[in-house]
Amino acid sequence: MEYKPLGNTTVLIPEIGLGTWRYAGGVEPLRRGIELGAVLIDTAEMYRTEDVVGRAVQGLRAQVFIATKVSGSHLRYDDVLRAAERSLRQLDTDSIDLYQIHWPNPSVPITETMRAMETLVDRGLVKYIGVSNFSVAELRAAQAAMRHYPIVSNQVLYNLTHRDIERDLLPYCQQHRITILAYTPLDDGRLATPARFRRTRGMQVLEQVAAQVHKTPAQVALNWCTARACVVAIPKSDSVEHTEENCRASGWRLSPEQIHMLDTAFASTG
Ligand SMILES: NC(=O)c1ccc[n+]([C@@H]2O[C@H](COP(=O)([O-])OP(=O)(O)OC[C@H]3O[C@@H](n4cnc5c(N)ncnc54)[C@H](OP(=O)(O)O)[C@@H]3O)[C@@H](O)[C@H]2O)c1
Repeated sequence: MEYKPLGNTTVLIPEIGLGTWRYAGGVEPLRRGIELGAVLIDTAEMYRTEDVVGRAVQGLRAQVFIATKVSGSHLRYDDVLRAAERSLRQLDTDSIDLYQIHWPNPSVPITETMRAMETLVDRGLVKYIGVSNFSVAELRAAQAAMRHYPIVSNQVLYNLTHRDIERDLLPYCQQHRITILAYTPLDDGRLATPARFRRTRGMQVLEQVAAQVHKTPAQVALNWCTARACVVAIPKSDSVEHTEENCRASGWRLSPEQIHMLDTAFASTG
């Protein structure tokens, strides 16, 4: 497993983490992922998977980086503090490594939310602050609201078929050393099983590149994400087998030519 710095910190996180939205695999796939170096687990109060994450990391807590999220509907000062307390109880841990705002909420001043996030760091309940689904403008406003701590990450949709962030958000994050946690990196499984979908040029090239490098389409799709500076991917799988496959998307690199082939093929047909 290859690691990347978290934002502008010296903390290293794996380039493949473990997502847990709609996760129903019990503790085994998560434990296997941890064994293979995928020691970043992403959850959220909204997912109702914080409890299984807590169980999966029992006895392993020190080596795992837990990222969870406060819902966009809980962004008033007191609501953030209460949500964090609930998450800590569900996770059965003393601190959250990365606490993210799940989505922006224009009806709550960002300064109020960030004051609460910084209070959680001051109290030792949260180590790092991140956001999710923030545009460049929202990210700038959030950064301007920080008094003592940086925003280290933005978790957003990014995969071969959804590349909007390449226009401005990805360059902005790379320039300001903010980690992108790429969510839905397998396009909800479609990029892992191209043979089951319409034979677009993109899907054909994905299979072609996979055959060239002796990897699976899922591994190529994940490696394509993590080849970008500042990007880590957080696929979700309920199965030990798929988790192993996804973890093995790291430790090697697609060539610039292969990345270019994929970029072009998906840009033309999706
Ligand atoms: N911040 C946000 O707003 C937000 C939004 C969406 C997602 N997320 C985060 O990102 C994580 C990942 O995104 P996602 O769950 O939407 O989609 P995803 O990871 O792109 O795809 C998950 C789907 O792919 C299948 N899959 C995984 N690995 C596979 C493999 N190697 N071969 C074949 N199929 C495979 C899974 O099935 P099996 O389980 O059967 O393997 C599941 O159906 C979430 O779990 C969550 O943590 C965040």
